[in-house]
Amino acid sequence: MTTTTPEDVRRVACVGAGVIGGGWVAHFLARGYDVTAWDPAPDAEARLRRLVDAAWPALTRLGLAEGASQDRLTVAATLEEAVADAQFVQESAPEKLELKRDLLTRLDAAAPPGVVIASSTSGYPMTDMQTTAADPGRLVVGHPFNPPYLIPLVEVVGGERTTAEAVAWASRFYEVAGKSVITMKSEVPGFIANRLQEALWREALHMVANGEATVQEIDDSITEGPGLRWAFMGPMLTFALAGGEGGMAHMLDHFGPSLKSPWTRLEAPELDKDLYDAVVAGCDEAAAGRTIADLVAERDQGVIDVLRATGRLPRQAAGHAEPKGTM
Ligand SMILES: NC(=O)c1ccc[n+]([C@@H]2O[C@H](COP(=O)([O-])OP(=O)(O)OC[C@H]3O[C@@H](n4cnc5c(N)ncnc54)[C@H](O)[C@@H]3O)[C@@H](O)[C@H]2O)c1
Repeated sequence: MTTTTPEDVRRVACVGAGVIGGGWVAHFLARGYDVTAWDPAPDAEARLRRLVDAAWPALTRLGLAEGASQDRLTVAATLEEAVADAQFVQESAPEKLELKRDLLTRLDAAAPPGVVIASSTSGYPMTDMQTTAADPGRLVVGHPFNPPYLIPLVEVVGGERTTAEAVAWASRFYEVAGKSVITMKSEVPGFIANRLQEALWREALHMVANGEATVQEIDDSITEGPGLRWAFMGPMLTFALAGGEGGMAHMLDHFGPSLKSPWTRLEAPELDKDLYDAVVAGCDEAAAGRTIADLVAERDQGVIDVLRATGRLPRQAAGHAEPKGTM
């Protein structure tokens, strides 16, 4: 294991710099780290700098760590250069198993010994991704939520060959870096939140495919409904309140049998062209002329407002606040 403690980390490498990798870059910069990024796409640096620029106003409103600056971002020419000096590595390449396996093997070969390497994978178990690495013990999943610079949660879990020390180190590091961490004891594809999100998304797609609800109605049903509760109280405790004074026990007696009806379909619908087009067109209609950049700004402000309203801003903003040494 690395001898650098999570509290002493100054230099982070982000490999793969799209929506999520770029979001991680923005987060680590805002928390005052030196960040080196690498992405093989020819336009990756320009895209990354645009993403960080767009995120910076929201991050500034949240409160930057002392010394935080976009100037602390270096874009490396090669993967090896990106991780050569890193004290922590976050991988955010496309969600393809073979690609992740090869990339993690290369990162393991290039990063300093013992440095923890985390994957942003949305659902692959680390056990399946670490098979060819020389030191699989330091490979963990650190699954963020979009955008990683605003949504606090990171789900951390190791694979069968990951050491317990690497999992504990990663969990502590993310906490020091201002994240809210769930350390899972066992691997399950999709981890926790994506299993829940996928169930909702699968049912939403069925409803569009069958003409049972429009994209707009599906979104309104959440933002005007349960979504308001979920920002501060999860689906289990809110259901306990739905049982009145009898709490969850009454809720289970009352609605348990309807689980068998069932109200939802468990198989995903066929993503045929009609459904694909209907969902894309429905989202365009729901955007009502707003561009993706407009929607990103609106979402960022909304998340900040919710965090502030629910008293969670100080935790998210309080990260690594000391001035940093240089390399
Ligand atoms: N989008 C989300 O909401 C979300 C949320 C959590 C986790 N994730 C996970 O994060 C990872 C990245 O997803 P994304 O949404 O940022 O995708 P993306 O397509 O926006 O970005 C992927 C980036 O990886 C780069 N890339 C391609 N081949 C590469 C390679 N061999 N090595 C390094 N980089 C390479 C691409 O050029 C691109 O910039 C995936 O594992 C995904 O499952 C996504």
